[in-house]
Amino acid sequence: MSLTWSDQVPAVGEYTELRRLAGLGRRAPGAAARGLEGSLAAVSVRSRGRLVGMGRIVGDGGCFAQVVDIATDPGFRGQGIATGVLERLMAWAEAELPASCHLSLIADPGAFELYKRFGFEIRTGMARTLP
Ligand SMILES: CC(C)(COP(=O)(O)OP(=O)(O)OC[C@H]1O[C@@H](n2cnc3c(N)ncnc32)[C@H](O)[C@@H]1OP(=O)(O)O)[C@@H](O)C(=O)NCCC(=O)NCCS
Repeated sequence: MSLTWSDQVPAVGEYTELRRLAGLGRRAPGAAARGLEGSLAAVSVRSRGRLVGMGRIVGDGGCFAQVVDIATDPGFRGQGIATGVLERLMAWAEAELPASCHLSLIADPGAFELYKRFGFEIRTGMARTLP
């Protein structure tokens, strides 16, 4: 099945739906709208117009940036979608972010190998989600 790749930020509804399908934590609609608007870079992958894969980079655009929302619809996994999304995001980061920018992500252990291929290494971190 042919896929359409773009650098567009997804719309709020399709974003929250893909996060749900991918088993990622819920984000309130107001949070999603504000967050998507604040993206530095995004990749959307569609099949017949439906969002089936995505990824974003958020951050200050200078010192710190974070890779977030790497997600593939379960029906489309194992076809290289997340790999392609990361290739595009890393190409953008290398072209647009300044030297010394700290690029981070919070990885599911199942995805460690995927991220290692793009130069990420395991370091200790802490995080919390607001109630
Ligand atoms: C992790 C995830 C994004 C991979 O998406 P994908 O499009 O299937 O990935 P790719 O086809 O590019 O495969 C890349 C690697 O992901 C892993 N992978 C592939 N299919 C997978 C699956 N069905 N389940 C889990 N991991 C899988 C493998 O390590 C694969 O490496 P390989 O090329 O040696 O096979 C996807 O399984 C997903 O959305 N998971 C739930 C959300 C999540 O955990 N996101 C990452 C948060 S850090």
